Amino acid sequence: MPRAPALLWLLLPGLAALEPLSVGIAIGAASALTGYLSYPSFYCSYVECCPGDGHRLNATALRAQLDARLFGQHLAKEVVLKAVAGFSRNRSPKKPLALSLHGWGGTGKNLLSQIIAEHLHPAGLRSKFVHLFLATLHFPHEHQVKLYQEQLQKWIQGNVSACPHSVFIFDEMDKLHPGLIDAIKPFLDYYEQVNGVSYRKAIFIFLSNAGANLINKVALDFWRSGKQREEIQLKDLEPVLSVGVFNNKNSGLWHSSLIDRNLIDYFVPFLPLEHKHVKMCIRAEMISRGHAVNEKVVEVVMDEMTFFPKEEKIYSDKGCKTVQAKLNFHWDTVMRDTKAEG
Ligand SMILES: Nc1ncnc2c1ncn2[C@@H]1O[C@H](COP(=O)(O)OP(=O)(O)OP(=O)(O)O)[C@@H](O)[C@H]1O
Ligand SMILES: [Mg+2]
Repeated sequence: MPRAPALLWLLLPGLAALEPLSVGIAIGAASALTGYLSYPSFYCSYVECCPGDGHRLNATALRAQLDARLFGQHLAKEVVLKAVAGFSRNRSPKKPLALSLHGWGGTGKNLLSQIIAEHLHPAGLRSKFVHLFLATLHFPHEHQVKLYQEQLQKWIQGNVSACPHSVFIFDEMDKLHPGLIDAIKPFLDYYEQVNGVSYRKAIFIFLSNAGANLINKVALDFWRSGKQREEIQLKDLEPVLSVGVFNNKNSGLWHSSLIDRNLIDYFVPFLPLEHKHVKMCIRAEMISRGHAVNEKVVEVVMDEMTFFPKEEKIYSDKGCKTVQAKLNFHWDTVMRDTKAEG
């Protein structure tokens, strides 16, 4: 940092008139200050910075968060930990990481994407390096697909140029126009560079309900044959899922060659949630609102949830999705009744 004191000297000619000890101290202080200010960790504690190449994801912390916040999804946890931690350890990946999350509504796909994002960029979904696209919100008009394609490609290119570790989450993949999937495809492939930009350190996460019925069927078959949910293994689902999704014209992945070119690295299945998982969601929601867990409220909310199939009623129709709204609705009433009884 020799330039800073020299500059100071030029700017402050009056310094020459001061006695040498004060000048020395002033120069020392200025050097220390400029050095400190230009130190990346100081700067990055105020302004969000793209992680450097040496940055590694903390897999232990990610595992702890998944265990604490994502209920009943042993397969999704296992796959994501392996995929994301492995990818982050790899100094020169051959392609960006592409995860495809599948499952019934309200089973934790957005929650898991949020947890992954938070571990790659501390600001999570608010990070300028994490980009969430909703098919129906961001690309609503079919006749504007050409324009969307251009905008999307420019957006991805610009953001990966600015930060190679960018994360792109595409929600409602089942509703995304096939033309847009084709627009993303070149970025997912095994190219060293596309137009001078390398995409190999980026992460793409696709969310959809495609394949949910197939996953639910496997889970139900396990249940009916008296096996534990945790006994379901990836190999029981992965082939069914990729073939099933591939053959489903409405899946959003069908038209593209994402699958037959092996551009999706991992299919991540989400199992339908059982009674006990929904109860865990209700309790977690109370705690996150700063309340003590109240089992009476848990029961009232549970009474309003509906379960399928018709005969056995094992899995929640809406996963944990309506828990927050139902809790808002019942909390005051139950608390008032409890106080009155007390
Ligand atoms: N497995 C789970 N563990 C803990 N909380 C969950 C789980 N699944 C869902 N939730 C909670 O339920 C709400 C809805 O979940 P989320 O948005 O992740 O569902 P989703 O799978 O994306 O559903 P959809 O397919 O309908 O978009 C969130 O508040 C989330 O915290
Ligand atoms: Mg969702």
